[in-house]
Amino acid sequence: MRGGEIAAYHLNECRPDTHFPRRHRSMSNNNAPVSVVGLGLMGQALAATLLRNGHPTTVWNRSAEKADALVSEGAKLAGSVADAVAASDVVIVCVSTYEVTRGLIDPLAKELSGKTLVNLTTGTPDDARSTAAWAADHGIAYLDGAIMAIPPLVGTPQGQFFYGGKKEIFDANESLLKELGGASVHVSEDPGVPLIFDLALLTVLYAAGQGWGHAHALVNTAGISAQEFQPYINTWVQYVVSAAIASQDQARVIDEGDYATEISNVSTNQLALGHIIQASKELGVDASWLEPVKKAADELVGEGYGNDSFARTFEKVKAKKK
Ligand SMILES: NC(=O)c1ccc[n+]([C@@H]2O[C@H](COP(=O)([O-])OP(=O)(O)OC[C@H]3O[C@@H](n4cnc5c(N)ncnc54)[C@H](OP(=O)(O)O)[C@@H]3O)[C@@H](O)[C@H]2O)c1
Repeated sequence: MRGGEIAAYHLNECRPDTHFPRRHRSMSNNNAPVSVVGLGLMGQALAATLLRNGHPTTVWNRSAEKADALVSEGAKLAGSVADAVAASDVVIVCVSTYEVTRGLIDPLAKELSGKTLVNLTTGTPDDARSTAAWAADHGIAYLDGAIMAIPPLVGTPQGQFFYGGKKEIFDANESLLKELGGASVHVSEDPGVPLIFDLALLTVLYAAGQGWGHAHALVNTAGISAQEFQPYINTWVQYVVSAAIASQDQARVIDEGDYATEISNVSTNQLALGHIIQASKELGVDASWLEPVKKAADELVGEGYGNDSFARTFEKVKAKKK
């Protein structure tokens, strides 16, 4: 979805927030109390950052002992989620799943009403949208966030968090949110978009990781170590992979649907995929993950797109219009 479509989606699909909270406050100073629900690896990093920045920080975790180090640094341990909610006007939730999140917050709709709830749990876009609709129904100022960082990056300028929900809620809390991750941005009024971004970027990571492992498995059959081969991957990624997927020019190809190419076409890549799969089988390397990629190339060639850019595979995977 493009920007306008995202906004339209929100207007059409999300229930009106007739109880939009009146008293969500600006977090422009670092004395604002904040509560953190969930002290896993990520929740601990979030709470530690808030403490370091001078926020009176109340924490709750199912296994209370995970709060010990934070309490010794000055955090207040709440005896219940309700106590954590009561302690601050901003409540951050970061637990394993949305199911857990909803189990913790649904009974506290009344207590959360008028407060700001920042949910940093990973789930699906629908999880985020339904939780946002629930929050709107109860007068809770809700932001859904996706953390594109690991715990050591929390509280640094490089920490990137994507936020969705009402822009005015993000704006009112921007300085606090940027303390957690300096590169935090509001990406859409549609609360589902941060998780779409999150899952999209992870898709790039996992596909690249799978290809990386496959590459080393192939090279390993010739008795060559990973460290010996890695420099060639580095150069390949820098100059070839980067041009293929880390480029605005390629993004424009998708947006404009103009797949003409003078670089490398589907037919050439169809043959290369066939060679990889055949050689992998001969060498005992599992190439099954590449079969669907080859199938997409076969189909495109069959449909007469053999001379187009390999970027046309986007047309094979994109959602069909409902
Ligand atoms: N770690 C990362 O690098 C990273 C990066 C980006 C996003 N995230 C996201 O951040 C969220 C938390 O990740 P994490 O790394 O902190 O995971 P984690 O270390 O496994 O912690 C999971 C948290 O969920 C709580 N929890 C699980 N089941 C529960 C239940 N039934 N009732 C109450 N609490 C429950 C755990 O409580 P107990 O301590 O009592 O088990 C703990 O606080 C996840 O959605 C994850 O995808 C993490």
